Amino acid sequence: MAPNEAGDELVFFVNGKKVVEKDVDPETTLLTYLRRKLGLCGTKLGCGEGGCGACTVMISKYDPFRKKILHHTANACLFPVCALHHVAVTTVEGIGNTKSRLHPAQERIAKSHGSQCGFCTPGIVMSMYTLLRNNPEPRMEDIEDAFQGNLCRCTGYRPILEGYRTFAKDMNCCGRVANGTGCCRSGKENTTNGGCCGGKANGPGCCGGKANGPGCCMNGKEDNVTMTSSSLFNSSEFQPLDPTQEPIFPPELMTQSNKQQKQMRFKGERVMWIQPTTLNELVALKSQYPNAKLVVGNTEVGIEMRLKNLLYPVIIAPAWIPEMNAVQHTETGITIGAACTLKSVEEVMRKAVADLPPYKTEIFQAVLEQLRWFAGPQIRNVAAIGGNIMTASPISDLNPVLMASGSKLTLVSKEGKRTVTMDEKFFTGYRKTIVKPEEILLSVEIPYSKKGEYFSAFKQASRREDDIAIVTCGLRVLFQDGTSRVEEIKLSYGGMAPTTVLALKTCKELIGRDWNEKLLQDACRLLSSEMDLSPSAPGGMVDFRRTLTLSFFFKFYLTVLQKLSKSGTKTMCEPVPSNYISATELFHKDPIANAQLFQEVPKGQAVEDMVGRPLVHVSAAKQASGEAVYCDDIPHHENELYLTLVTSTKAHAKILSVDASEAQSVPGFVCFVSAKDVPGSNVTGIANDETVFAKDVVTCVGHIIGAVLADTQEHSRRAAKAVKIKYEELPPIVTIQEAIEKKSFFKDIKRINKGDVKKGFEESDHILEGEMYLGGQEHFYLETHCTLAVPKGEDGEMELFVSTQNPMKSQEFAANALGVPSNRIVVRVKRMGGGFGGKETRSTILTSVVAVAAFKTGHAVRCMLDRDEDMLISGGRHPFLGRYKVGFMKNGKVKSLEVQYYSNGGNSVDLSHGVMDRALLHLDNSYNIPNVSSVGIVCKTNLPSNTAFRGFGGPQGMMIAECWMSDVARKCGLPPEEVRKLNLYHEGDTTHFNQKLEGFTLRRCWDECLSSSGYHARKKLIEEFNKQNRWKKRGMSIIPTKFGISFTVPFLNQAGALLHVYTDGSVLLTHGGTEMGQGLHTKMIQVASRALGVPTSKIYISETSTNTVPNTSPTAASVSADINGMAVYNACQTILKRLEPIKQSNPKGSWEDWIKTAYESCVSLSATGFYRIPEVGYDFEKNEGKPFSYFSYGVACSEVEIDCLTGDHKNIRTDIVMDVGTSLNPAIDIGQIEGAFVQGIGLFTMEELRYSPEGNLYTRGPGMYKIPAFGDIPTEFNVSLLRDCPNSKAVYSSKAVGEPPLFLSASVFYAIKDAIYSARKDSGLTEAFRLDSPATPERIRNACVDIFTKMCPSAEPGTFKPWCVRV
Ligand SMILES: Cc1cc2nc3c(=O)[nH]c(=O)nc-3n(C[C@H](O)[C@H](O)[C@H](O)COP(=O)(O)OP(=O)(O)OC[C@H]3O[C@@H](n4cnc5c(N)ncnc54)[C@H](O)[C@@H]3O)c2cc1C
Ligand code: FES
Ligand code: FES
Repeated sequence: MAPNEAGDELVFFVNGKKVVEKDVDPETTLLTYLRRKLGLCGTKLGCGEGGCGACTVMISKYDPFRKKILHHTANACLFPVCALHHVAVTTVEGIGNTKSRLHPAQERIAKSHGSQCGFCTPGIVMSMYTLLRNNPEPRMEDIEDAFQGNLCRCTGYRPILEGYRTFAKDMNCCGRVANGTGCCRSGKENTTNGGCCGGKANGPGCCGGKANGPGCCMNGKEDNVTMTSSSLFNSSEFQPLDPTQEPIFPPELMTQSNKQQKQMRFKGERVMWIQPTTLNELVALKSQYPNAKLVVGNTEVGIEMRLKNLLYPVIIAPAWIPEMNAVQHTETGITIGAACTLKSVEEVMRKAVADLPPYKTEIFQAVLEQLRWFAGPQIRNVAAIGGNIMTASPISDLNPVLMASGSKLTLVSKEGKRTVTMDEKFFTGYRKTIVKPEEILLSVEIPYSKKGEYFSAFKQASRREDDIAIVTCGLRVLFQDGTSRVEEIKLSYGGMAPTTVLALKTCKELIGRDWNEKLLQDACRLLSSEMDLSPSAPGGMVDFRRTLTLSFFFKFYLTVLQKLSKSGTKTMCEPVPSNYISATELFHKDPIANAQLFQEVPKGQAVEDMVGRPLVHVSAAKQASGEAVYCDDIPHHENELYLTLVTSTKAHAKILSVDASEAQSVPGFVCFVSAKDVPGSNVTGIANDETVFAKDVVTCVGHIIGAVLADTQEHSRRAAKAVKIKYEELPPIVTIQEAIEKKSFFKDIKRINKGDVKKGFEESDHILEGEMYLGGQEHFYLETHCTLAVPKGEDGEMELFVSTQNPMKSQEFAANALGVPSNRIVVRVKRMGGGFGGKETRSTILTSVVAVAAFKTGHAVRCMLDRDEDMLISGGRHPFLGRYKVGFMKNGKVKSLEVQYYSNGGNSVDLSHGVMDRALLHLDNSYNIPNVSSVGIVCKTNLPSNTAFRGFGGPQGMMIAECWMSDVARKCGLPPEEVRKLNLYHEGDTTHFNQKLEGFTLRRCWDECLSSSGYHARKKLIEEFNKQNRWKKRGMSIIPTKFGISFTVPFLNQAGALLHVYTDGSVLLTHGGTEMGQGLHTKMIQVASRALGVPTSKIYISETSTNTVPNTSPTAASVSADINGMAVYNACQTILKRLEPIKQSNPKGSWEDWIKTAYESCVSLSATGFYRIPEVGYDFEKNEGKPFSYFSYGVACSEVEIDCLTGDHKNIRTDIVMDVGTSLNPAIDIGQIEGAFVQGIGLFTMEELRYSPEGNLYTRGPGMYKIPAFGDIPTEFNVSLLRDCPNSKAVYSSKAVGEPPLFLSASVFYAIKDAIYSARKDSGLTEAFRLDSPATPERIRNACVDIFTKMCPSAEPGTFKPWCVRV
């Protein structure tokens, strides 16, 4: 590096305030700067790799080239602070707050219940805000597009879209485009589809009673018994958007930007950032520093430096150089400067497509199609076209288009300019090109297409939105004038080799040929051999990738055929058959629609009594404004240290040595902590089979061996990477299969047997045997694990701020590790950014380490895991293998069932036995099976310990039941819904674990769902659709669920509460449950408010802590509202009892009067409450007792459409009917149902953890692990709460709702399977087939067997080493 030439001042604005930074480190991101330096913690860190949008901010700059102020979103986690010179940043804090006024973008998401845990909320608010700044009257489509780069794990997205729909100019109350068919607002009549609600004619009224506006025709409509409402919020309360009120762009920046810029240099500890202003300067710099990186968007380099641990000592930022930003229309095409962002490329292409004749823009349209699914807007707004080309990624989306179109690249260096064509010689190896180190890519010319030239681009990814390609391509053909004879053809693929490639051999053979069936066959044959992949190829999915190359070509073939016939060209081939046409259609979104129906509170309920009303989550407004404090937002303590874990890179090995000496030379290093520093016991874990730090042996990749402490997070990260560990590897057990072979099981093997299985089989007409595998699932709470430990300096006291669902175990395990009694440790939990079971026990592995480190150093110590660390070490949902044998009658009645369930428990017991118990207790799902024999075995493997996850084994248990149930229906040749209904329990039936079903509302849910979804009529339409479409198929399925409520460990069914009333009448409530977004605190305030008869505004919950309510059960098993609600109720009753004489002596007095009198009469105004669920407990040995207090029920009907050629699917419609008892809060309950359902869509159709055969997790972030995004929810999403079903077993007749709805998403899986059946039928296959979960595009495509899949046969298992294994 050059000697210290730095010293320039970086000048930018944040929320209107000028920041002048003299000492900036180029390695610092905007996010770190905002959070650490400016204390603006509203912007969140969810992933650090541009994949979640939690860090979204608005960037505004004056563009001197266009003389315009531009606003765009960006991911602060990737945005280098040095790129901010003369730029204005707006964060969530800058647009509004609860102290003065919320911005409408904040207010509407909060009031429409679009914020649960709130960790994603600031990012979503900023995406919406930026859209409104650019377009105060957006279309609904613009709104949906604006969220392509934002993820939310809690809400299921529907409420966010619905709240923000109120900004859309083209939407009415229930989601159908205004002036579309039959909108109630446009005065047109309901037509074919039943009106604006898209046929939701089964709910009351045309739009399902969506009374968003006071004018809805359904407001107040009454039925016989109860009032039904769909008004979860009232949009007439919303403040109007007033664009004139927005802060102005700092005038100083405008004047500065107009001035001549000077070269800037910023130098940090390891990296120098140089920002030249002219092309000459840039060329000279690149000649001086040939290995320097050119950074525009930093969306590649940022990832390489953070996740791949690469260091680039010199960075050159060319973003302000005019020539690199220029766009020129030439005779042959459009030349785009290499620093032009993808967003601006999109604008240029769009304009060209609008202005030029269509034959000239075939290639531009293909670029637009690729950009449509390229990352999210935050990335597209900053990433440059040059960056995409020069990264030379084999899965780049643009390079296949540029290569197939023969785009020209202009390179410049000190030697001068040269132009090269992007052809087969351009990429020389993995991420390598012919561009020399001292050369710069100046521009790229994308050519116009010619007459007779056709171009298509296709991409298939795991998720449609914001995902990198599995296979991507650009396909071009040019015909001889006026004919269908091929003159030139170029087929370029990404994802099939270490570089983007051209199928040269295939293309050569096709030249001179006519575009007909024979060409298609030959092309596919040639492609299947040319686009071959080794069965061990990195990335896996080998058969799928190979098939995709053919599928894409087939789509191209049909598209071109259609275009040829439209152009009037004489062809020798048959026209495209009508049932093939849908294969050529590009994905299009339908306008979203939904209805949420719930029972209104009884007439006469006092207005201030909020129980049963859709009260907004009490923290929602603070979450939307960024004021809500999460663990890592707590201000820093003096001399606080940051901790980074050092974890094993081997799945099973002896530790030979640990060497931290190199780490010591990293600036800011303080110390290394390991097993020898544990003052108490190093043994920990639910089953005492874990260690705080691994000592001699590691048993999984990610096993914690030690930790580094340093002054900052950056330093501790660097130092941790410098710790060297030597291992002696031992053979690992990774998969369930290997564990079965080696009999590696945890000891407690459970069985539930009922009736006489053998006799049941003998009496059966048919017997079927089968197997199903269900993959695991990562929790992907938006806030990763976080702990801040603050030693108190005396008697071993320590305060732990933890993001945990389990304050009790966090306290107990930390005390145990520190060797102090629990009474010295206080665990405090304000809120979590999501938990879903992932913070029930696994949070303790970090907390104990941080506590030991704080003890050793005497300083406050903080650690928030990076996303990749969190995904690596903290385990997830258990993968399951289910083997079944089922006996049944000809009519589908099941007589006998034998199942073996195996789960992958990982390297420690943790909660695996509880999870397996619940799986066995749910093996019946909702069906009465007279004879059952079942066994549940937890496999011990060398994976990180798997743990609780919403549903806790229930979904796995039920999914296997639905698998054999659908096989039974198929074998009997009967409609699955008939067979399912035939087997459903009845009121008073006894389950296989001998619990009697009382208050069995499932059959009501079933009938309601069947009718409200219009199941039978739609089934006919689907059949018709499938007849008319060979390559797109639709499917539908209706699935019930019955979910047992209670912890299956009886003593956990207890809860406590503490209630203080202060002399001003305000109430401070604490209870044992933690708030992770599920609205528990809101519900508890509602309960206390009704019990005490005081308004909710008088009651406050500050946090959950072990020094207020001791020995709390984890917030889990869906029972938290039940048990804590009763404890709160009991505490209220104690206070009320004490107040009774005072109230009697002053009956007309107010609450405040009574409290004042009580205080002055020395009556205690503090009370505890306690509750335990009575009579629960089950004995597996004897199959007796009662595992559950009661059951929650629900039914869902889902319809999907699959693309048989690519495996893509879209969720068309879901209708859910759910029994939640008498809802405490319908908005929260519906939010839980929708959120759980969408999480389940992830589980059963998308989310796939991929491990190497050695047990190394590949999927360590949102880049590779895809959770559902906005575009994945059902286009039409209707949820209805069953009416008149009070539950006598829980507080105020409510029911548990957190986990039960998750399984309903199995309806999507079985709808997909239904659609695949139809595709297979067209290939002559009618037998039952195996579909494992999740039903990813790969599995869907491979199951849709056809001529293309047959041309890409699988390699023989055992003859190769796969890249990844099914664990
Ligand atoms: C969340 C996320 C999603 C993504 N999704 C996609 C996707 O869907 N499809 C896809 O194809 N890619 C995707 N990417 C990859 C990436 O966004 C693109 O490759 C992007 O275009 C890179 O541009 P950049 O300006 O950010 O590059 P930078 O990180 O700034 O630079 C990348 C590389 O290009 C070199 N370089 C840049 N400009 C020049 C130049 N003018 N001359 C010479 N060398 C140069 C740099 O030296 C560096 O090596 C994604 C990335 C992220 C983080
Ligand atoms: S934290 Fe930046 S995108 Fe996830
Ligand atoms: S509310 Fe969106 S992640 Fe929790």
